[in-house]
Amino acid sequence: EKGSFDHYMRKEIDEQPTAIAQAVRGRADDGRVAFESLSDGAFADVDRVQFVACGTSYHAALYGAQLLRDRGIPSRVFLASEYATTAPPAGDGTILVGVTQSGETADTLAALRRGRSEGLRTMAVTNVVGSTAARECDETVFIRAGPEIGVAATKTFSSQVVTLTLLAERIRRDVTGSHSEAAPELLDALSELPSAVGSTLADSSAESIAERYGDSDAYFFVGRGSAHPVALEGALKLKEISYEHAEGFPAGELKHGPLALVTPNTPVFAVATGAHTEKLLGSIEEVSARGAPVIAVAPRSEEAVAEAADDVLWVPESHPELVGLLANVQLQLLSYHTATLLDRPVDKPRNLAKSVTVE
Ligand code: F6R
Repeated sequence: EKGSFDHYMRKEIDEQPTAIAQAVRGRADDGRVAFESLSDGAFADVDRVQFVACGTSYHAALYGAQLLRDRGIPSRVFLASEYATTAPPAGDGTILVGVTQSGETADTLAALRRGRSEGLRTMAVTNVVGSTAARECDETVFIRAGPEIGVAATKTFSSQVVTLTLLAERIRRDVTGSHSEAAPELLDALSELPSAVGSTLADSSAESIAERYGDSDAYFFVGRGSAHPVALEGALKLKEISYEHAEGFPAGELKHGPLALVTPNTPVFAVATGAHTEKLLGSIEEVSARGAPVIAVAPRSEEAVAEAADDVLWVPESHPELVGLLANVQLQLLSYHTATLLDRPVDKPRNLAKSVTVE
């Protein structure tokens, strides 16, 4: 039921505070990360994590892998369709994690099956109890987002990021004997994240930004570190539901090619998390010099970024490792409003299905 909302997508964007609270509930008590289905020490023998996923879930996996790497655990993400054909080297200590909202994506299932056939331990991170991925993997962690009807994944991205954040801390503790130094503040911030998302939703200027830039040739999204997957996700969401041309880039790559596309009629959304600020400022300068309007997506503490930009989509202050998730909420709203202004069928974009069951 859509209730008072015009679209399921809008309703599901709004459900994120609840979805995130559900993903965290009972999993981060007393400063220790625990998953109901995984006994203490379950990851003690893990020396490498490989993720496989598609689309939005791939972006969530990129976010999670970075958290793991920052905690000293070698981690890489593969597009499931590529992994299934050209599997990378793996060993006894490798765990293969499939991130899939539906648990039914054919490419992801094929990649997981390929890993299994080579003797790898497999784990599903999914939203759907009883899904094929959950049944076929050795272990499953549920993201507990509740059903998602809109074809565009929104709340499930946030729930995946939150679940993978917890998982990164959990793997780190099993492997090294203790949580990361960041853990106490990170877990506190996770418990406050539902209200931070709530205030992002309540106080967003995404609709007026969508109106201001709605008549552009293309839309670019840039970010570094954890803002990189957010830039990719911002672009995917916009192209999916508005049919506008959008691309996401790691900010540092702009000068290696994409800059040729930047004009006064290609707004650039710059996602700032509080890390790598100087370098992001450099990227903003590069595109501003070509006349492109820059819209920062940033917390208020990122004053220099906000100064350098033409407009700002503000996000609340949070732990630097979670600011990207808040920025993504603003970009979801931007896509939604851009699509509705163009009168697109937001919940059922052309050519796309909620669950892609062919390879
Ligand atoms: C984008 C979107 C798709 C899915 C992808 C994977 O909004 O929904 O890109 O993320 O098809 O689906 P799951 O997560 O079900 O494996």
